[in-house]
Formats: sequence, structure tokens, C-alpha cells
Amino acid sequence: MKILICGGAGYVGSHMARLLERNSHSTVCYDNLSTGHRAAVRSSQFVEADLSDQETLESTFGQHGPFDAVMHFAARSLVTESVSNPAAYYENNVIGTLRLLEAMRRTGHHRIVFSSTAAVYGIPQQLPIDERHPCSPISPYGATKLMIEQALRHYGSAYGLRSASLRYFNAAGAAPDGTLGENHEPETHLIPRILRSILDGREPLQVFGDSYGTADGSCVRDYVHVDDICRAHLSAVAFLEEHAGPHVFNLGNGEGFSVFEIIAAAERVTGQPIRYEVAAPRSGDPPVLIADATKASRLLGWQPRHAGIDSIIESAWRYYAENAAEIR
Ligand code: UFG
Repeated sequence: MKILICGGAGYVGSHMARLLERNSHSTVCYDNLSTGHRAAVRSSQFVEADLSDQETLESTFGQHGPFDAVMHFAARSLVTESVSNPAAYYENNVIGTLRLLEAMRRTGHHRIVFSSTAAVYGIPQQLPIDERHPCSPISPYGATKLMIEQALRHYGSAYGLRSASLRYFNAAGAAPDGTLGENHEPETHLIPRILRSILDGREPLQVFGDSYGTADGSCVRDYVHVDDICRAHLSAVAFLEEHAGPHVFNLGNGEGFSVFEIIAAAERVTGQPIRYEVAAPRSGDPPVLIADATKASRLLGWQPRHAGIDSIIESAWRYYAENAAEIR
């Protein structure tokens, strides 16, 4: 297959390119390097451009296409940042994605796998969360992703666009050989922050809130390995060949871990004590997010291979330990 990977220099997008290229597919990475890294690009071809650049988008489809599918990872994805700077989220995640859909439409491309998020659900009314759970996002980030899911539905009925929106729970971990991993600047995600706090040994980790209505008072998340997320994208492309219309799938392990449990797991895996202090809750954080991913299992044949939290943290730790010099 030939796949256009928007956001192929970012965390999940670069792992996706690695998986596809290793399986003899060809990929073109389209990325503005705003949060991604040139060194993380694993695609054979790279176009450095913004989603807002309609002309370059269309010429990419024209010159490098036709593509069997588009995978769209290029988004701003920080819940708290979206609360303080919603304009950037609407601009990139909504307007940018609409440009991408327009370029697809004009150039006759009909299949897209869209990186959506558990943040579309808001505060859960029941757990685990399946795809029929009402969507009521509590952050601009979640709202922008939901808007695109809606657009995909409408483009599906009007223009025949086939789409799979994959609602990731918490992507984590790194390539098993330690060559590719999560490298955001600034880093805000829990597992990388814990591991980086060990490596730089300066600031204690901050635990954002310890009086949520959870067993130990800290937020609970469903951590899913980045390679498992990528494998679901491959299955989604195959699914779209057979099935018209818009589809949504949750991607998670179905098991929740609190912030304190993640700290304990990281201590187990690394053998290092983790210093932390309790800080105020972050805005936009739901207390618990746990997936029911039965639908992905049933229709995509998807089963996470990295089910244990220790193995997820181990892969991330290998990446940080081996790349400490470049990351710090
Ligand atoms: N947390 C801390 N201290 C930190 C960092 C995080 O206590 O230093 C807490 C957060 O408050 C949250 C949990 O750890 O309760 C996980 O936080 P992350 O920043 O790792 O992840 P989020 O749950 O905020 O968001 C991630 C993605 C989103 C996606 C969401 C879906 O960044 O894009 O998972 O669950 F929408």
C-alpha cells in the first residue's frame, strides 16, 4: 500500500511509518515539524508543510499519490493547553483537517484513518466506556476532535468518504528496540515525565490532584502501547476497503491505572525511587477514562499485545535510557 501520513514526524505517526515501512508499504510523511522531529521520520519521502497550506496539500496528493489511504495524526493534543489556547486547537485540528479533507475530495482520495481521542467523551457516565457512550467533551481539544468526527460523518454521506475514527485512550510506550519513542517539548505526559524526572534528578514529579473520587484520589487512565495503536490503523485501512461509511473505534486495554499506581509501576520497572509532590488538579482532566474496546476486537480483529503496564513502561524506559543525551 501507499499511505500518506499527516503528522508522521510526531509520536504516534512516526511509529506508524516505522510499522508500515517494515511491512513493505510505502509512506509519505507530511509534517510541519511544529511538535514532531525530523529525526523521527521513518517514511521514505518527507514533505515539510502545514495543513493550512492547501496548495502544497493538493500537490502532495498529485505528485506523490494516488494513496490507498490517509492516516491523520497531525494535531495539537494537549488537553490543558487547549483550555488556555483554544484558538490554536480550532485552527489546526479543525480548519487544518477540513483543508486536508478538501484536498482529498478534490484529488479523489476516499479513505482516511483519523486519530481521535477518549477526550470526546468528557466525564464518563459509566465505565468502561464504549462507543455508544454520549460524547460531551470538557476540553476544547476533545471538542475539536469531535467536530471532525462529525464532519467525517457528513462527508461520508455526501461524498462517499470512508473513515475510521480511532479514539485513543492514553498512548504510551516506545519501539521495543529503543530507537523511537515519545519526545515532546515541553513534555506534559505522565509516563515520560516520571521517567525524565529520574534521568534529570532535579524537579520532583507533580501529581495533579489527589482528591478525585477514585480509589486513591488520583486520576485513572487506560494506557495503551503505541505499537498496538498503530496495528489498529493497519486493520482499519483493511476494514475500510470492505465497509463504506464512517466508523468509530475505541483503542484501550480496558484496565485503568491511577497516577499513584503508575508511579509504583515505574519504580518497579526502573528500580529507582520517584520523588513526587501533590499539586492542584489540571483543568480539563476527567477523573477516570477506561475503554471498552470490544468493538475494535470484534470488527477489526484488534487485540493489544502489550497488555501489562510494566511492559509499556519498560519500553519507554529503554528509549529514555538510550536517548537521554538528545532528550534532556
Ligand atoms: N499527570 C500528573 N502529573 C504529570 C502529568 C500528568 O499527575 O506530570 C496526570 C494527569 O493529570 C492525568 C494523567 O496523569 O490525570 C495522565 O495525563 P497525561 O498528560 O499523560 O495524559 P492525558 O490523560 O491528559 O491526555 C492523553 C492525551 C490526550 C488524550 C487523552 C485520552 O494527551 O490527547 O490522553 O485519555 F485525549
